[in-house]
Amino acid sequence: MKKIVCDNYDEMCRAAADQYVEQLKQKPNSVLGLATGSTPIGLYDELVKRNGEGKIDFSRAHAFNLDEYHPIKQNHPQSYKTFMDEHLFNKVKFASTRIPNGEATDPEAECDKYNADLEAAGGLDLLLLGIGTNGHIGFNEPAVSYPLDSYLVKLSADTLESNSRFFTDGEEQPTTALTMGIGQILAARKILLMISGAGKAEISKKLFEGKLHTDVPACFLLLHPNVTLIIDKAANGD
Ligand code: PGA
Repeated sequence: MKKIVCDNYDEMCRAAADQYVEQLKQKPNSVLGLATGSTPIGLYDELVKRNGEGKIDFSRAHAFNLDEYHPIKQNHPQSYKTFMDEHLFNKVKFASTRIPNGEATDPEAECDKYNADLEAAGGLDLLLLGIGTNGHIGFNEPAVSYPLDSYLVKLSADTLESNSRFFTDGEEQPTTALTMGIGQILAARKILLMISGAGKAEISKKLFEGKLHTDVPACFLLLHPNVTLIIDKAANGD
């Protein structure tokens, strides 16, 4: 795992944006795996800015998101579809975008379709990941075993608690989600992991031990040959 330690979050976002400039220069029709949550927001802002300045072009790139709540209306303010539209897709032109459908009446069939769509696209060239305070990647929560392909997952109490901040009173928070599986994540040709803030220092330490803690899903990334970690000093424990 290549590690880039940045002074602060803004520097992290610029360093991560540089990776996209390079990726799309090398392969304009890249298949990009994208993430949601607070961590990528500054990166998406930076990409929108650079796109406006003509420094990066996504018009031939294909986006596949990691996960989505289920069930949730696509236009729900807290759906990841809404998040991606607001932060990136309404501002930057992609050749195509794909997010697991939180409205699907048959979630297993939606996962099968998602797997098929991703395979038909040729798999992920560059996958962006954040990490949960419990070590989850995508919505792969700590478990005894991990599905390889997309699946319907029951969210952990930790995740429900950390994400409850986004749901206002009266908005029902989904307790299940659709997520890419660990096999799909590890099949990405390159992975960009962003970790920011003192609240992530403890889980980052687990990752840095270099052991395969099977109750910390992010540790599976230690098995991948091409991961770049962009982390700020606070999360790095400096
Ligand atoms: P965060 O979430 O970026 O909001 O901290 C990361 C994650 O849960 O994967």
